[in-house]
Amino acid sequence: MIEIADTVKKAREIISGWKKQGLTVGLVPTMGYLHDGHMSLVRKAREENDKVVVSVFVNPMQFSPNEDLEQYPRDFEADTKLCSENGVDLILHPVPEEMYPEGFCSFVDMTGPTAELCGKSRPIHFRGVCTIVNKLFNIASPDRAYFGQKDAQQLAVIKRMVKDLNMPVEIIGCPIVRESDGLARSSRNKYLSAEERKAALILSKSIFLGKEMADNGEKDARKICQEMRKLIETEPLARIDYVEAVDFTNIQKVDTIDGETLFAIAVYIGKTRLIDNFIVQAKS
Ligand code: PAF
Repeated sequence: MIEIADTVKKAREIISGWKKQGLTVGLVPTMGYLHDGHMSLVRKAREENDKVVVSVFVNPMQFSPNEDLEQYPRDFEADTKLCSENGVDLILHPVPEEMYPEGFCSFVDMTGPTAELCGKSRPIHFRGVCTIVNKLFNIASPDRAYFGQKDAQQLAVIKRMVKDLNMPVEIIGCPIVRESDGLARSSRNKYLSAEERKAALILSKSIFLGKEMADNGEKDARKICQEMRKLIETEPLARIDYVEAVDFTNIQKVDTIDGETLFAIAVYIGKTRLIDNFIVQAKS
């Protein structure tokens, strides 16, 4: 039977009981409105741990005042059903006051990998992400934590934080899950009108184009980005935020494919900002 903890105290009691029995814990941090992308993380966590915890918390700290905190889709009943069907043991579902009680004033801040891409257009975003993920790790004491590669910069940032701050947790990145027509799964896809949903395919089309160029031996990252940009510009409803190639570890811009290179895009379709990416490994 799935358990639901809406307080830190209750979550700790359940998890410390497991730990006393020597059981391992996998954590899947989410903001809810769960879909198959999240469930792929849950399934991986299920395979690799005795117990699986999913956190469902729309974290106000990672949204700027002009962003979509209020509209962010929520459906806890559907989330609970999906988690239950996929063998989750515990959902941590606190209210904002539980996570940020009055007087809260401690943050995890990072330079380096947060400077480019989404960090540029969403300046306080990663401070909010690092702070909440740090708190979730302290509450759930997971052996492993699972993050989707769809948020590739977030994955790189969390890996860096864990390394820098000696956090005793293994970070597992999981592949992007797509709809059958190519669109990357995202809770924000819900914002798209039927016309925008069609237009949004320009993101995955440009990702597939870039990946094909790289797979065919193109090493010039600027050229690949240029072709991807040109394709996106053919879609009248699309407005590019960024199309960039960066080193996947430190998220610094690169001109040539070298080591693990991340090609990342952020594109507005109407008012909805969507992201997508692919990673290539330079052939030695
Ligand atoms: O990827 C997300 O959904 C969020 O950024 C996370 C990691 C759950 C932190 O709020």
